[in-house]
Amino acid sequence: MTVRVAIVGVTGYAGGELARLLLRHPGASLVAAVARSHQGEALRDVQPHLHGAPAALRISAGVGDAEVVFTALPAGEAARQARGWLAEGRKIVDVGSDFRLRDAADYSRWYKFEHPAPELLGEAVYGLTEFAREPLRTARLVANPGCYPTASLMALAPALRAGLIETDLIIDAKSGVSGAGHTVDEAFLFGTIDGSLRPYGVPTHRHTPEIVQQAAVLGGAPARLTFTPHLIPMTRGLVATCYASLKPHVTGAMIAEVYGGAYRDEPFVRVLSTFPATKQVLGSNWCLVHTVVDEENRRLIAIGALDNLVKGAAGSAIQNFNVMCGLPETAGLEALPLWP
Ligand SMILES: NC(=O)c1ccc[n+]([C@@H]2O[C@H](COP(=O)([O-])OP(=O)(O)OC[C@H]3O[C@@H](n4cnc5c(N)ncnc54)[C@H](OP(=O)(O)O)[C@@H]3O)[C@@H](O)[C@H]2O)c1
Repeated sequence: MTVRVAIVGVTGYAGGELARLLLRHPGASLVAAVARSHQGEALRDVQPHLHGAPAALRISAGVGDAEVVFTALPAGEAARQARGWLAEGRKIVDVGSDFRLRDAADYSRWYKFEHPAPELLGEAVYGLTEFAREPLRTARLVANPGCYPTASLMALAPALRAGLIETDLIIDAKSGVSGAGHTVDEAFLFGTIDGSLRPYGVPTHRHTPEIVQQAAVLGGAPARLTFTPHLIPMTRGLVATCYASLKPHVTGAMIAEVYGGAYRDEPFVRVLSTFPATKQVLGSNWCLVHTVVDEENRRLIAIGALDNLVKGAAGSAIQNFNVMCGLPETAGLEALPLWP
């Protein structure tokens, strides 16, 4: 028994990564590879790293008889089509940002458009899998978290949930260029990026309200955030270094115990005793976490590292899909780490 799935936006980076993983997933059958461009062409010709894909799998305009639709589209595009797919009885995992924020007013403020399906925002499950398994089991619409929010929230969640830190947060994060998609723009040319590091989107980055919203949910108190993302000269991989003030009673031993306990049985999270590096997660669904207690300044520094296209996009989407469909959570994701 396999679940029939479609990828909408399959010509993009996240869509291509979804195809890489779903084509070898034992519980999924990729029945439709959807995009506006290249229709009629074989997926393996359009995404040449998928040279093992069946020749018959061609780019199409519709999702066919898919039971689950993965969307990896620019902001607003999944929301324009979601209502129809749900009415047809399909489930949706949106790798984009259309269903991540609870309040439609936040879309006009941060994304600069009126949300096309505001009535769906209340139903969407925010799919940070490790903290959402129960609602995911019955979800028909999943908002897959952004890449920066995944690394940041995985790094901060145990301390937030245990009430060990204040919710006034600072996050300094760095991502490879694939995080921006395959857009042709001077800012992402090799000559612009190579040998150069630059911050961007301060304080307007669209992941800011998402992290604030979910930090408040996890911490049970309103959150504030200063978020500084950077573009680094590599293709994929992301590190988020998060700073929060420790509550007065909190010790380093308490932090170590809470983090060890929170992630002990997680299949895709490892708490390291040293600093993580992007190379350790490339191509895999791992999120590596490391904490430092700065006693002098009474601060927690929590670091999360992941591959933005896997745990930050396609991998976590498939992890969510597995939970939604009652499949083993690790299905299709097990053998991925390059570094055991
Ligand atoms: N890249 C990452 O690391 C990452 C991580 C997490 C989440 N995401 C999210 O995933 C989504 C896709 O990101 P990406 O990096 O894969 O972008 P991308 O490489 O630019 O791909 C975008 C896809 O959407 C299609 N598309 C573009 N404009 C469209 C429109 N107006 N209507 C319908 N389809 C359109 C494109 O193909 P056609 O033009 O052929 O239709 C392409 O397949 C975004 O929402 C992004 O925020 C990305």
